[in-house]
Amino acid sequence: MKFFSRLLTSVTLVTAVFAQSSSVDSYIASESPIAKAGVLANVGSSGAKSQGAKPGIVIASPSKSNPDYLYTWTRDSSLVFKALIDQFTSGADTSLRGLIDDFVSAETALQQVSNPSGSVSTGGLGEPKFNIDQSAFTGAWGRPQRDGPALRATAIIGYANWLIDNSNSSWVTSKLWPVIKLDLDYVASNWNQSTFDLWEEVNSASFFTTAVQHRALREGAALATKIGQTSVVSGYNTQAGNLLCFLQSYWNPTGGYVTANTGGGRSGRDSNTVLTSIHTFDAAAGCDATTFQPCSDKALSNLKVYVDAFRSIYGINSGISSSSAVAVGRYPEDSYYSGNPWYLSVFAVAEQLYDSLTVWNAQGSLNVTSTSLAFFRQFSSTVATGTYASSSTTFQTLTTAIKSFADGFIAVNAKYTGTNGGLSEQFDKSTGSPTSASDLTWSYAAALTAFGARDGFTSPSWGASGLTSPTTCSTSGGGSSGGGSTVAVTFNVQATTVWGENIHLTGSVDALQNWSPDNAILLSAANYPTWSITVNVPASTAIQYKYIRKYNGAVTWESDPNNQFTSPASGSFTLNDSWR
Ligand code: NOJ
Ligand code: NOJ
Repeated sequence: MKFFSRLLTSVTLVTAVFAQSSSVDSYIASESPIAKAGVLANVGSSGAKSQGAKPGIVIASPSKSNPDYLYTWTRDSSLVFKALIDQFTSGADTSLRGLIDDFVSAETALQQVSNPSGSVSTGGLGEPKFNIDQSAFTGAWGRPQRDGPALRATAIIGYANWLIDNSNSSWVTSKLWPVIKLDLDYVASNWNQSTFDLWEEVNSASFFTTAVQHRALREGAALATKIGQTSVVSGYNTQAGNLLCFLQSYWNPTGGYVTANTGGGRSGRDSNTVLTSIHTFDAAAGCDATTFQPCSDKALSNLKVYVDAFRSIYGINSGISSSSAVAVGRYPEDSYYSGNPWYLSVFAVAEQLYDSLTVWNAQGSLNVTSTSLAFFRQFSSTVATGTYASSSTTFQTLTTAIKSFADGFIAVNAKYTGTNGGLSEQFDKSTGSPTSASDLTWSYAAALTAFGARDGFTSPSWGASGLTSPTTCSTSGGGSSGGGSTVAVTFNVQATTVWGENIHLTGSVDALQNWSPDNAILLSAANYPTWSITVNVPASTAIQYKYIRKYNGAVTWESDPNNQFTSPASGSFTLNDSWR
């Protein structure tokens, strides 16, 4: 009897998994061409839905009201073209070359357009969006957004590497490199300044932005080396090291997840982090946790915490078992359009899981650590930490269940896809009906990359393999810290802040930005209400400093007198302060 019912259960399970995977297969077969056409319709000037857009300009959506998305965002455009460039360079679609050249020309022109963030040489590259005729958008907006230049560099570098491999280095050097270099120089000198996050809401430091900046500088340094532009290489690599160091500070070891923003006053669980994992995926790096690769223990633990945050807040998720796929959105506290699931966030979860499966299958094993245990226990409640070879039952049980979990996210989007395969920005958390911007270009691109990942497609490596993070972070963008010996000082300050407010640090030495409120160093709120940062300062030196608050452009200094300490001759040192 017992045996019988177990057998029946597993037959039902196998049938269910099979039924799901065949319906996912048929959804992908019909949705792929629709998504591809959806992307192309939104690229000017000949795209069917992008009248008025200049050649190579990507509109975010044709929607002109509720919301008005008929603009071009550097982030959306670059992510979309990265997907198209991957299709072109892999040989999957060789017809895209003309459009890619249009994109490069369009972005080359946009870089030079002075806008409310500045001119090309005074910060204008951080401007998030432009009018589709390539003029500046001058209305109020969350600016700057410093992920844009990095994402644009990454997209164009992908094309540049292909051109070099196909005997067109001279075109790269004359036409692409000047554009790439402007963006990378901007990243190298501004990465330590605060930024609006990818959702254009929180002004602080943001995991996605830090990670894509790190990636762009690494591959930019490699490209520069290849084409003999050696003068930038060490500067880019130095700042990449600093970025990688800072990237580690977003990890919340107690919660087992990545805190998306240093500011913002939210839980920090955010699709930002899953998007980071897929957009900085490098199959050559395996399951490396330093770069938060999709199959790293940190990224998997984070994925579970993030997904679980949506189980009880959307009506359409009710009644779904705690280990099955559900609809997910940007972050649980979201209130934009009342806070709904986003197609691109759902696709991103599936993509992270497919990327993981690709790596585990390639390396012939899978590793369960104490950090990733809770993630894996969703699929097998008794699994223990350890390394499981692909020949083992455990490997097969886990990977089969994870594939079906991933397919479950595709099935969620399939269920709520609009008529004729249309993908908007969001779908209603209670009714499941598409809402907000229709035909969102980024939603279509997210479908294409998730489907590609399910087929095992991997983008060319960007050099993530074997990177190690310095143990102490230097936070000075661009400059170097001089010759004398330094010690690592950790500044911890207890400070209660309001939404959008951040704590910075400045003081009497170069390493503390010489009392500059503009260049003051942003602290991490990963352990809020303790804000902290570790800075290398000159050894055996009397140093004065103050914390400052920044909120909506207003700066508030701590009251007098200055804080002071004398740094030790060697080793490290910690200061525990309270805001005063
Ligand atoms: C428009 C932004 O694009 C969106 O991300 C944000 O949520 C809303 N403004 C509300 O700030
Ligand atoms: C709002 C999203 O939050 C932002 O990420 C995106 O760039 C714009 N909409 C345009 O799609």
